[in-house]
Amino acid sequence: MISIKEIDQKEFELCYELDSDTICLWTKEQWQSEFKKRGVKVVAMLLKKKIIGIYVVQIIIDEAQINFFSIKQKFRRKGFGSYLMTYLIKECEKLNIKKLLLEVSETNSIAEMFYCKFNFLTVGRRKNYYKNGADAVLKEKKFIK
Ligand SMILES: CC(C)(COP(=O)(O)OP(=O)(O)OC[C@H]1O[C@@H](n2cnc3c(N)ncnc32)[C@H](O)[C@@H]1OP(=O)(O)O)[C@@H](O)C(=O)NCCC(=O)NCCS
Repeated sequence: MISIKEIDQKEFELCYELDSDTICLWTKEQWQSEFKKRGVKVVAMLLKKKIIGIYVVQIIIDEAQINFFSIKQKFRRKGFGSYLMTYLIKECEKLNIKKLLLEVSETNSIAEMFYCKFNFLTVGRRKNYYKNGADAVLKEKKFIK
């Protein structure tokens, strides 16, 4: 059975574990400080009580920035990412968010296709943003009333 819930700082080790198994974005210390940022929500998707996906979103007034979005490797390509993104979009709608923003490496073509499916549009680019020299592509999804 799938469930989705907001998690708190006490569970930062579980977040670090999923991150280390997937995209290796943050250290343990970075995860701890992420939880302390203003407007940050860390949300986990669980299957049979085990975390299989996490997103981190930071809400500032009427905009939301996705800081982390990842599904465990062995659960990918089964619709779980779409399920979690659909949940996030509904949460944004409930909070009257106007824009959902994110940045993704230009080399991450799977994420590109994934976000395209949810009508995110490319709105900018940060040159040489990542350690390997890749650009960051800035994307946004506007919520129209
Ligand atoms: C991007 C990610 C979240 C997708 O999760 P997922 O559970 O595999 O996604 P879904 O099964 O719901 O697929 C949704 C859509 O994404 C795209 N997609 C997902 N995996 C794909 C793949 N391997 N090849 C091509 N398209 C793919 C497709 O458009 C797919 O729609 P379709 O099934 O109708 O073709 C997952 O690959 C992931 O965690 N990647 C590592 C983290 C990451 O890159 N995060 C985003 C950057 S911040």
